[in-house]
Amino acid sequence: MNVERGLVLILALCIVGGARGESQTAAPPVPEITSPERPTAIRLLYPPSGAVLTSNPAVVMILGPDAADPPGFRLDGEPLAVERIPFAEAWKAVPAKIPLPAGSDTLPLRSPLLEDKDGKVIWAVATDLSDGDHVVTLDGATLASFSFRQPDEADSDTTEPVLRVHGSPSSRADALDCAQCHDAPASEKATSLGIAVTPQACDSCHEEVDLSLVHEHVMEFLSKCQMCHDPHAATRPKLLIDTRETVCAMCHESGYAR
Ligand code: HEC
Ligand code: HEC
Ligand code: HEC
Ligand code: HEC
Repeated sequence: MNVERGLVLILALCIVGGARGESQTAAPPVPEITSPERPTAIRLLYPPSGAVLTSNPAVVMILGPDAADPPGFRLDGEPLAVERIPFAEAWKAVPAKIPLPAGSDTLPLRSPLLEDKDGKVIWAVATDLSDGDHVVTLDGATLASFSFRQPDEADSDTTEPVLRVHGSPSSRADALDCAQCHDAPASEKATSLGIAVTPQACDSCHEEVDLSLVHEHVMEFLSKCQMCHDPHAATRPKLLIDTRETVCAMCHESGYAR
């Protein structure tokens, strides 16, 4: 962490804190955020279509209707041996909207799944991809197409849609285990996908103090990390779902370009 930047931020936080003391009404209004379209019955969650993958194995995750036998997904024409991962019961209790602290309003959660999880499961598989283009299909219809290539030095700053997976403490190339963020009751842990609540799911590894420095922001308003980051993988640096300007513009009219 750059010390000078840190000091500037602490100063800024003091000013923001001070200003808040004087007037509670100074906070910018929170605009209505339009929810994404309702998902179709079958939705490929990962990898995103158009992404360039650079690490194996790649996780293919598809949201679809529950069934004893998996729907006939194919990877490059070959049957894809997916596993069935049901949601833990706790998901049913998740509200579709989250309250904003100290705030005026509520923000819709980004995930359309939360409104549409009944009777659905995740069909998932980790698979090694060869170099080149790949396509996942169901009954001849394309669910997603993406490609694989060997990683190279430029990947960390390239603006190409390289898929960046959330690294693990031991290795950047390994994705975290689902259970490191998704907490299921002990009785369901081994067999189902528990819920991931932010920021608690991130707290064990990312400290709030560090986060406020990195974001140059009071974290209270940024506590729903998935507003801006895809927790699993994204094709932008820092796992961002969109440009910095766009994500900041969710609440600040001008956005904050850099
Ligand atoms: C770094 C923490 C983290 C890890 C690791 C993680 N998840 Fe998640 N996951 C989250 C968070 C946070 C959400 C809620 C996101 C939202 O509401 O948009 C979520 C939501 C989901 C959803 C529903 C959201 C959607 O996109 O529609 C599915 C399905 C899911 N995770 C599956 C998995 C699986 C399977 C794994 C392991 C391969 C995994 N996750 C690993 C944090 C994580
Ligand atoms: C088990 C520990 C652990 C958990 C839990 C965890 N992280 Fe991380 N996170 C890390 C580590 C270690 C890194 C640095 C790894 C790397 O270089 O990619 C990291 C990096 C990141 C990055 C930067 C990635 C980049 O490309 O620079 C983001 C964004 C991030 N985490 C968000 C989250 C969010 C959001 C959650 C909760 C939903 C979360 N993390 C949960 C350990 C964790
Ligand atoms: C308003 C959007 C937004 C929200 C909400 C948000 N972030 Fe970020 N985050 C960003 C942006 C933008 C960056 C890139 C920082 C930059 O541009 O300087 C970033 C960077 C990061 C990094 C990389 C730090 C590094 O050293 O490079 C981590 C880790 C991270 N965020 C974790 C989180 C966690 C955990 C949460 C939830 C508690 C969260 N973020 C909430 C926008 C957000
Ligand atoms: C969820 C809504 C939300 C998002 C998204 C958000 N902010 Fe803020 N921001 C606020 C609120 C509310 C305040 C006022 C905080 C206070 O007074 O305590 C604030 C204050 C600020 C301030 C202090 C000065 C000012 O303009 O009022 C800066 C700078 C700032 N935000 C930058 C950013 C940046 C950069 C991003 C994107 C990484 C971002 N914000 C994303 C809600 C948000």
